[in-house]
Amino acid sequence: MKIVHVASELFPYVKTGGLADAVGSLASTLAGAGHEVSVFIPGYSAALAHPAAAAAERVLRLKIEMGDTFMTGEVKLFSPRPNLGIYTICREEFFDRRGAYGNGERDYEDNYQRYIFFCKGAVETLRLLEMQADIVHAHDWQAALTPLLLRHAENRYGTTLALKTVFTIHNIAFQGLFPMRAFPHTNLPDELRGIDGLEYYGQMNFMKGGILFADRVTTVSPRYAREIQTPEYGCGLDGVVASRAEDLTGLLNGLDPAIWNPATDAHLPANYSAADMTGKAVCRETLLKKTALEPAPGDTPVFGMVCRLTEQKGVQLLLDNRDFFLRHDCRLVVLGSGDRRLEDGLRALAASRPGKIALAARLDEAMSHLIEAGADFFVMPSMFEPCGLNQMYSQAYGTPPLVTCVGGLADTVTDIDAAPDGGTGIMFPPTVAGLRHGLKRALALFADKPALAAVRARAMQRDFSWAGAARAYVHLYEEAL
Ligand code: ADP
Ligand code: GLC
Repeated sequence: MKIVHVASELFPYVKTGGLADAVGSLASTLAGAGHEVSVFIPGYSAALAHPAAAAAERVLRLKIEMGDTFMTGEVKLFSPRPNLGIYTICREEFFDRRGAYGNGERDYEDNYQRYIFFCKGAVETLRLLEMQADIVHAHDWQAALTPLLLRHAENRYGTTLALKTVFTIHNIAFQGLFPMRAFPHTNLPDELRGIDGLEYYGQMNFMKGGILFADRVTTVSPRYAREIQTPEYGCGLDGVVASRAEDLTGLLNGLDPAIWNPATDAHLPANYSAADMTGKAVCRETLLKKTALEPAPGDTPVFGMVCRLTEQKGVQLLLDNRDFFLRHDCRLVVLGSGDRRLEDGLRALAASRPGKIALAARLDEAMSHLIEAGADFFVMPSMFEPCGLNQMYSQAYGTPPLVTCVGGLADTVTDIDAAPDGGTGIMFPPTVAGLRHGLKRALALFADKPALAAVRARAMQRDFSWAGAARAYVHLYEEAL
């Protein structure tokens, strides 16, 4: 099959969160299975600076209609593995910036222009290079206008660019909402300005376009597929999602065992597997040293957390449980960056008991692997979670996750007291009291070493590899075709 992905992030070239991991793994797994895969990403300077992109060659100059003017750009292509071509849509003015979406303080004001240009660039490349895709698969709001722009271009030029289009919602909390003056830059017909098109309470909503106009809509877990049809989790688009219920599927992400495997992970000071866990203790010690935490004897659990510091990730629930961490004999290490207020809260917490609580306020790929391996428990108290990858990584690393019973967390973790087989983690409602109870249950489990070993063993046996997840996508593509 000829499969084209359009996404704003792709591991290892540009990543701010799980979207990059998910698209990267899906694309390479599909390529490995023999499909002809292309991925379109914006030509961020950081992505093009990646060593694997050094061989990128210009394949096209672009002239893109943006409202009543034209903007130029170019397309560079490189191929990191057989069957996989990565097309970068370049325009320095838009993509030669430090952050992908903003400068750390706030989002760039011209994001609507940047991503309309990106989607149009992808469509124009498909047309000019006569790529004739079977499936064009767009991810999240930044790529959400692709299906619509693609059909519009097909009408305009009387050609077929793709047989079917798929749109995946990785997070409905980010919709790409802009003032209506963004609309003319799409050059779409006026009837799409209204409520049956891209309009959302007087504004223009990119994600709504993806949900309404792709042939198939997917999201990243079965439970989240149900949740986003309700007002509680739909972020105002629940009605729009529900209108596509028949074409909506929830497919779980997977993990890439080439990157997330404790037996081979090059970021770890020692490797280990279910058969021999001695390396995990080495990772634990290295983690404590690297974060300047006091040594933790065998009865002192180490809690780890890695996330974007946003409301989504339940950082506030953690902060509201500060006395748990101060009162009990334990260690806590958090790796994350993002929201200034949450970061300050964590910093203050760490400062109140250095040696016991540590914050690494940065993006650090190696440290994220070390926490997955070196912690005794992985804490992920998300308020909502489309899929979540870290709880899968932590299970593979024999680090039982503490998760809320929402979205993909509920679909990928089983509770030690509820699952017939004994479970792989600890689950609780997304409340302060819920997390507190979960932490207490973790203390009890940690004191019962045979039970802990059994939970770890079960967690490490679970198969989250992308092979199964990619097969589910192929099945969906075939059905659509
Ligand atoms: P989301 O996409 O909502 O951020 P996921 O759990 O799907 O959540 O994926 C998060 C990814 O980003 C994981 O690979 C995680 O390790 C990584 N990550 C998050 N914060 C950091 C950080 N500060 N440093 C390194 N990696 C991080
Ligand atoms: C989003 C979600 C996360 C998911 C990731 C990859 O960032 O927040 O839950 O795992 O996308 O699909």
